[in-house]
Amino acid sequence: MNVLITAGPTREPLDPVRYLTNRSSGKMGYALASAFAEAGHQVLLISGPTKLDIPDGVDLIPVESAAEMFSAVEHHIGRMDTAVFAAAVADYRPASISEQKIKKHGDTLTLELVRNPDILGSARGKFSFTGVLVGFAAETENLETNAREKLHRKGCDLVIANDVSQPGIGFDSDRNQILLVYPAHSEPLLEDEKHHLAPRIVREIELLTAGA
Ligand code: PMT
Repeated sequence: MNVLITAGPTREPLDPVRYLTNRSSGKMGYALASAFAEAGHQVLLISGPTKLDIPDGVDLIPVESAAEMFSAVEHHIGRMDTAVFAAAVADYRPASISEQKIKKHGDTLTLELVRNPDILGSARGKFSFTGVLVGFAAETENLETNAREKLHRKGCDLVIANDVSQPGIGFDSDRNQILLVYPAHSEPLLEDEKHHLAPRIVREIELLTAGA
């Protein structure tokens, strides 16, 4: 099947030398891309900036900002059977980008931020995507409740929830502990390396695709 995966952080520019970003390393999304390719699927990875090598057999579209990631997903999602959104997309970006490096003046600097488009949240409506839709939920509290709310609100078939308040798992770590949240039930997976969890997640998504 054709699989689209988003991964990594986005960078939201402030001026020619500064940006807002987050601690996503891309490891979770790249592990999934690699596992899908190893299972024989065609993989398009749309990734924010990372230090990772492109997995074998995976096509990569590199992007920087949430707006660029949105455009790339909008352009390609129509031919996909499955879309998996592992990227940590910035919810907000600076309202304006200074053409010149911002100079320091006073003791404080106030930034105005505006909402970025919700890429996963656009899949069912704006992009009219009818394939299997898998989101992630990065939560620091009420993991299952918040993930289930995202599942329904964004029209997902599965949300992979991770508690990003726990040290040693989640953002910028080789390991993760996840909860698979389906419309009718949830299933926890034991903490493990991301590249061990990824083939397990791929099998879950293959089952969803077979039943779709
Ligand atoms: O990259 P790593 O260091 O390996 O870390 C992995 C991870 C912690 C980043 C990953 O496992 C993870 O949880 N990714 C989702 C992070 C996130 O932004 O979660 P969220 O709960 O804020 O967003 C919910 C979903 O909507 C996610 O699928 C996200 O990709 C998507 N989203 C969010 C905002 C937005 N503007 N567009 C989106 O598509």
